[in-house]
Amino acid sequence: MSQVPVIDAENLQKVYGAGGTPVVALDHVTLQVHQGEFVAVVGASGSGKSTFMNLIGLLDRPTGGSLRLDGVDVAKLTPNQRATVRNRKVGFVFQGFNLLRRTSALENVELPLLYAGVSAHERAEAAKRALTQVGLGERMGHMPNELSGGQQQRVAIARALVNQPALLLADEPTGNLDSTTTREILKLFVDLNVNHGITVVMVTHENDVAAVSRRVVQFKDGRVVMDGPPPAEWTPAVPAPWHTAASAPTSEVA
Ligand SMILES: Nc1ncnc2c1ncn2[C@@H]1O[C@H](COP(=O)(O)OP(=O)(O)OP(=O)(O)O)[C@@H](O)[C@H]1O
Ligand SMILES: [Mg+2]
Repeated sequence: MSQVPVIDAENLQKVYGAGGTPVVALDHVTLQVHQGEFVAVVGASGSGKSTFMNLIGLLDRPTGGSLRLDGVDVAKLTPNQRATVRNRKVGFVFQGFNLLRRTSALENVELPLLYAGVSAHERAEAAKRALTQVGLGERMGHMPNELSGGQQQRVAIARALVNQPALLLADEPTGNLDSTTTREILKLFVDLNVNHGITVVMVTHENDVAAVSRRVVQFKDGRVVMDGPPPAEWTPAVPAPWHTAASAPTSEVA
């Protein structure tokens, strides 16, 4: 692929607690993700998955190595520029939804646009579109505590999508959901990837969730120890177009 990678991490390193006993959370991780990929990040608890996601989502800064997002060297950005890149290029979805309480679904989804300085009218329009896209068009006025877990996660996904980011980062997005709701959210991710071209990077502990992806990156002790298609014995929780042999990507095009 000749395109500039969406994520280009080289020797990425994160050491916590430089003052006391240092913890090497990421140990020289080199990884590229290209536009349109659907990647699952797996690994034992403490292996560095969230640390990696927080770095590429610009929620935290590396202690070493380089990181380019869409060709932009993020180490060279000022804090304001980082915030702008984060707001425009990356949508982040968390296990715990992280919605503002006592704030309607619509207002939660409008928030990133408020930070981006978009007018009230355009904010409402874009937020309605995003909520409709995730199947919540009828629930826009509801508060988070009036919504099910799956619906709350949909609001969080709408919030992540409202700025039309190229990259959706999700850290255990189905970790708090039952299996039926998990499948709904995964179908939504597949739709966003296949029909809207959004690059998805998703952390999970579940093999059947990881098997939905086209590529599995496994972390161990802060390093990448495996990077390839999901093992054949993992059964995907929901189908995706690339699971059928006919549409699977192949380099052996005749
Ligand atoms: N803010 C912090 N300060 C100090 N150490 C941290 C901090 N955040 C994470 N760590 C350490 O860094 C390592 C990697 O943590 P990380 O949260 O990335 O793991 P993870 O793979 O996401 O685990 P889990 O599956 O439990 O979410 C762990 O040893 C953890 O204790
Ligand atoms: Mg984690």
